[in-house]
Amino acid sequence: MDRERKKPLRRKPWPPETVVDKPAPLADEALFSRSVISPLRYPGAKRQLVAVIEALIRANMPPPRLLLEPFCGGATTTLRLLGAGLVQHGVLADIDPLVSAFWKTAAFDSRWLIDAMHQEPVTVERWDWWRASRPRGRRDRALKCLFLNRTTFSGILHGRAGPIGGRSQKSAYKIDCRFGIDGLTRRIEGVAELASTGRLLDVWEADWRVALARVPTIFGVLEPDEVVVYLDPPYVTKAQWLYQWSFQSAEHAHLASTLTSTSPYRWLLSYDDTSTVRDLYRRRQDQTTLHVSHRYTAAGSETRTVKDELLVTNFSTIPDSDRYRVLAP
Ligand SMILES: C[S@@+](CC[C@H](N)C(=O)[O-])C[C@H]1O[C@@H](n2cnc3c(N)ncnc32)[C@H](O)[C@@H]1O
Repeated sequence: MDRERKKPLRRKPWPPETVVDKPAPLADEALFSRSVISPLRYPGAKRQLVAVIEALIRANMPPPRLLLEPFCGGATTTLRLLGAGLVQHGVLADIDPLVSAFWKTAAFDSRWLIDAMHQEPVTVERWDWWRASRPRGRRDRALKCLFLNRTTFSGILHGRAGPIGGRSQKSAYKIDCRFGIDGLTRRIEGVAELASTGRLLDVWEADWRVALARVPTIFGVLEPDEVVVYLDPPYVTKAQWLYQWSFQSAEHAHLASTLTSTSPYRWLLSYDDTSTVRDLYRRRQDQTTLHVSHRYTAAGSETRTVKDELLVTNFSTIPDSDRYRVLAP
């Protein structure tokens, strides 16, 4: 099934002008400014937080040229910021081979993905087949990711979550209720357009440390202000049920020490509001912790609840807003 050609998806490294130049115009600007365009349903997707992140980026000069999202998951933030023109270029990275294969294929091989999606029977038998499969090629990993994400309870790719509607399919919501072909086609085409216009530059299957280190290697030495890193790591609580790759407590601490001591770039980090995270990021003069309350669909539930999150950043300007409360250092 997986008949991908062996040639590289993009020429690397990019000549410096690729990153410095303005991207080409979008065919339909309005589509990108109005909608959230991720084709993936993602546990913890950051739709509500994106507006806060947008406001923070607008308030800080100069505007960044390159956005790196090293825990991209559903990539809501990067797609939104690229589509709205708030950053010129973006790179997505995730350690999960299914997730990174999905984004790579949606961005640079979208025709294949759309055609394959149209041919896919959306049934419990097919769900079992994809769940048991171990695809080795990028294309089949991408299709597995899309299929399971759109047909599994809460979009959970790994672990014990079952198909939407249960095995007996007696529920009002059947397995295909979130597999709307036309909508998904438009969303994948949107991702492909971000790529073909030079906005979405690349997708990496990488650990966050590798992704951070790779930016200067691939793009050359950029001024610290030219890069913004948006990080949405696995939650402190519950992550082990949601993602194949969750964090042990030492890794939360390692991320904190990397960001607070060695990151050359501006960064924004979102987390569940726990005492662990508050402690890891407290008492730093050059960074701010914001408390944000927003409505959210929790994993394991199809209903919306209020969720408290923290947004930590080293941005220097924090505008007044009724969307968040600045925590005392
Ligand atoms: C909270 S989710 C991101 C959700 C995303 N911001 C969204 O809006 O959909 C965390 C992601 O981090 C990825 N991840 C976990 N450990 C990682 C690591 N060590 N390096 C890179 N990605 C990792 C998981 O595969 C998962 O996709």
